[in-house]
Amino acid sequence: MKISKLVKQIPPSGIRVFFELVLGMKDVISLGVGEPDFVTPWNIREKAIFSLEEGYTSYTSNKGIIELRREISRYLNGKYGLDYDPEEEILVTVGVSEGYDLAIRAITDSGDKVLVQDPTYVSYAPVITICGGKAVHMKTEPGDGFKITPRDISRVCDKKTRAIVLNYPNNPTGNSYSRKELKGIAVVVAKKGLIMVSDEIYCGLTYDFKHTPFSSLPGMKERTIYLNGFSKAYAMTGWRIGYACGPKDIIAAMTKIHQYTMMCVPITSQMAAVEALKNGDRSVEEMKREYRRRREFVIARLNEIGLSCHKPEGAFYAFPSIKKTGLSSLEFSSRLLKQEKVAVVPGTAFGPSGEGYIRISYATGFDKLKEAMEKIERFLKAL
Ligand SMILES: Cc1ncc(COP(=O)(O)O)c(C=O)c1O
Repeated sequence: MKISKLVKQIPPSGIRVFFELVLGMKDVISLGVGEPDFVTPWNIREKAIFSLEEGYTSYTSNKGIIELRREISRYLNGKYGLDYDPEEEILVTVGVSEGYDLAIRAITDSGDKVLVQDPTYVSYAPVITICGGKAVHMKTEPGDGFKITPRDISRVCDKKTRAIVLNYPNNPTGNSYSRKELKGIAVVVAKKGLIMVSDEIYCGLTYDFKHTPFSSLPGMKERTIYLNGFSKAYAMTGWRIGYACGPKDIIAAMTKIHQYTMMCVPITSQMAAVEALKNGDRSVEEMKREYRRRREFVIARLNEIGLSCHKPEGAFYAFPSIKKTGLSSLEFSSRLLKQEKVAVVPGTAFGPSGEGYIRISYATGFDKLKEAMEKIERFLKAL
């Protein structure tokens, strides 16, 4: 059968390829998936159930129910001082995944270049390729905390460069950016006339300092597509709901694609999201407290057993170096899985700069984490 050339170009997700190995194995402790181990807080589930009982089962406005868009606007204003018009500057999407896809489709013409960091979240580059664009990878250095610097951007920008994708707190490294670092990036973004696609899905899980949305920086609102969602902080991965905020012409373009493809996000999920924003913060804080406790434990243990690891500032990932073992990321992860039945993700699943690293998700129960760390220690001793 004929398959599109663009689709043929993209590789299958490195995470999925590795987890094919896990499938079918018994008693594996998985530190692999980027998904909260909590269920969605009860008040959110209850609102959704009640909305079904009341008979809310229809399509909604393509942009999302106005009550939710108003709530998003109110929430972002109260939390970060952002000012988005619910009528024209907010679109409710099927997760950040759809928000990102729409953003790239809306701004990319064939041959346009979009900058992504390496290591990077697995979907960014393939979506750019599918849209006919060219993903330009910016290699980041462990010494810089795997963060993009203004210098990195200047170095790779040319006339075809249209946009840059930033993700913080970051998957896979767990690092985030301070306001000062973001301001440095904003200067280059303005100078080069770029659009910023800012994936801030983990912003609610920032541990050591206050999260700064990129669009809150002076002059950046008009050139930023701000992406956020409910999957991570509210433990709502299965509800498939997120949102995009941005300049009204870009949101209108994204809405045009969305109305021909998804039409709208399921109404039940939208009802649940309203409740999450209105009354979800306490549960987020509780989950965050537990993630923080796990972070302290995992990072201390990793460093103790000889896998040096910086302290991540957000999300629920640790990204330790395995260079001392002399194994490649894939060898390390495969052997750990076979010998000790602990699943982690090889750093190379996130791009070539991830070689020498593994990603560990601590969105896993404390007891399981403890056991996994003992197994990793035993594995290292036996090498
Ligand atoms: C950085 C990043 N962006 C987006 C997503 C997808 O989020 P959603 O469930 O909202 O589609 C993930 C999920 O792992 C992620 O890590």
